[in-house]
Amino acid sequence: MEIKVLGISGSPHRHGNTETLLDSFLDGAKTAGASVEKVVLKDLDYTPCQGCNACHKTGDCIVQDDAITLFDKILKADSVAVASPIYSMGITAELKGLIDRGQYLWARKFILKTLFFPNEHIIQHKGVFISTAGLSWDNVFDAAFPAITAFFNGVGFEYNDNIIANNMDEFKGIKNHPTALKDAFEKGQKVVAVLEKLKSQNSLKGGQKSKT
Ligand SMILES: Cc1cc2nc3c(=O)[nH]c(=O)nc-3n(C[C@H](O)[C@H](O)[C@H](O)COP(=O)(O)O)c2cc1C
Repeated sequence: MEIKVLGISGSPHRHGNTETLLDSFLDGAKTAGASVEKVVLKDLDYTPCQGCNACHKTGDCIVQDDAITLFDKILKADSVAVASPIYSMGITAELKGLIDRGQYLWARKFILKTLFFPNEHIIQHKGVFISTAGLSWDNVFDAAFPAITAFFNGVGFEYNDNIIANNMDEFKGIKNHPTALKDAFEKGQKVVAVLEKLKSQNSLKGGQKSKT
């Protein structure tokens, strides 16, 4: 019963603060026995949502590009860690662009009623938000949380945890932060242990992974 962990890096800056924090989480998950994959949004080819509302009638997006392939992958993962630095007090354009493209799942759930995630499914799918910010403000991540909540709701994942580190300007990078990388590693290990336990309890009950 291998746990699949998918990391999504929404930073346009390769191997910067945010992707490094994500890597630490994924390393922890791998150490705990999960199969791990990282997708870098900057390397994908997808357009922003066109707002055509065709998905409200069909449940499918008219634009079949890398965003749809990635949503297929997300729906097969047990844990998704989505990472973005704070840009202009919110998430990056790369990540917001991806989240908007999930509107076809919203249409399936709330208009067409062809998609339903039971609680048992949601509990066994853990979402983690990873972020870094330059400023030391306590509220610097606040505008990011609602979009991340919408994302995890859309794909049937429990929004399980945040791994966030502010004050990067002062620390001069995540590598100088006293605790963040270790915390991220340990949280990667922990999410795999929790999911393994939940899945073994579920298989003892004779349950199966719910179909989406
Ligand atoms: C275009 C841009 C906008 C930014 N806006 C903010 C902001 O509003 N608040 C903040 O605290 N930091 C802001 N920052 C700083 C980044 O959040 C911070 O340096 C972060 O750690 C960068 O992560 P990265 O190395 O993954 O790109 C901004 C950086 C850039 C490039």
